[in-house]
Amino acid sequence: MEIYNGWLIVNSYYNPAKFHALYKVLEESAQKAGLRFSKWTSDQRPTVIGSKAKEPMPAFVLFWDKDIQLAHAMELSGLRLFNSAEAITLADDKIETALKLAAAGIPIPDTIPAPTCFPGCRRNPASAEEAARLLGWPLVIKENKGSFGQQVYLANNKAEAERILIHIGEHDCLFQRFIAPSKGRDIRVNVVGGKVVCAMERRAGSPVEFRSNIGAGGSATVYQLSPLEEKLAIDAANALGLDFAGVDILIGREDNERYVCEVNSNPQLQSTIDTCGINPATNIMWHIRSSIKNTAAPVATVPDPVTE
Ligand SMILES: Nc1ncnc2c1ncn2[C@@H]1O[C@H](COP(=O)(O)OP(=O)(O)O)[C@@H](O)[C@H]1O
Ligand SMILES: [Mg+2]
Repeated sequence: MEIYNGWLIVNSYYNPAKFHALYKVLEESAQKAGLRFSKWTSDQRPTVIGSKAKEPMPAFVLFWDKDIQLAHAMELSGLRLFNSAEAITLADDKIETALKLAAAGIPIPDTIPAPTCFPGCRRNPASAEEAARLLGWPLVIKENKGSFGQQVYLANNKAEAERILIHIGEHDCLFQRFIAPSKGRDIRVNVVGGKVVCAMERRAGSPVEFRSNIGAGGSATVYQLSPLEEKLAIDAANALGLDFAGVDILIGREDNERYVCEVNSNPQLQSTIDTCGINPATNIMWHIRSSIKNTAAPVATVPDPVTE
C-alpha cells in the first residue's frame, strides 16, 4: 500500500477539547487509508498570496477550518484541499448556500437577506417586520456565519426581532420562514464523495427549544432516509462542490416536504459515531486517497494490511 503525506489545518484560536478528540479520530482514520498527516494551526502555515508551495508539497490538505482566505491562498500555491476553498466559502455563509441551492432547484426555507449594516449603524426592526409580512411570525433570524445553533434565533414579534437584531449588530444576517413541523427536530446526513454514509434524527433537549443541534443540548437517533431525503442531501453537497458534508434537512408537514436547512463543510463527527456506530472519517480518508492517487507521489510503500 502506498502511503501519502498531507496536512491537517485547524483554526489557530478556537480549539476546544472536543476538537482535539475529533483530530484524533481524523488521524486514526487517515492511517487506516494509508494517509499520514501533520497537524498545523492556520498561523503555522502562513502563505504568501501568489507564491508556490515549497517542495516537498503535501499530497493533500485536509482543511478543517473556515479560514477561507488561507484556503484560497493555499490552493493558489498549488495545494490540493479537501474541502476546496470554494466549497467551504459557499457552505460557511448561509446566504451563499441559499443562493447556490436555490439556483440548483434544491428546496430551502424561504430566505431573505437582511439589509447590510455598516459598523456604527443601528439595525432597524422594520426590516424584520417587512420580512415577516412575506414569511410570517415567528421569524427565524440567523447570522450568515455561525455554528452549533449559537447564531440562530427565533423572533415571535417585532419587539423580539429588534432585540435580536441589536444583538447581531453589524454581522451579516438573514430572515427565514420557520418550518413549524420541524420545531426542535431535523435530520443530519453525512455525505462523502457524492454518497450518503449515514443519517440521524436530532431532537432538541427541551420542548421550548427550536434548535436541534447536539451542541445546544439536543440528542440523536439513527434515521432511515427516504429516497427523496437521500437525493436531497447528495444534491446539496454536490451543488456546493463539497467532497464531504453534514447536511441538515428540515421536515415539512407532508412526506415529500423537505428543505435543506444548511450544509456543513467540516461537521462534528462524534455524535454521528456514537449514534450510528459509523465513522464518516473513514469514508472521508478513502475518498481523499482515491482522489489524489493518480496525481500525487506516495512517500513510501508498506505491505497491505491483512484483512480477514
Ligand atoms: N427555518 C427553520 N425552521 C425551523 N427550524 C430551523 C430553521 N432554521 C434552523 N432551524 C433549527 O435550528 C438549528 C440550527 O440552524 P442551522 O441553520 O443549522 O445553524 P447552525 O449552523 O448553527 O447549525 C437547525 O438544526 C434546526 O433545528
Ligand atoms: Mg446546523
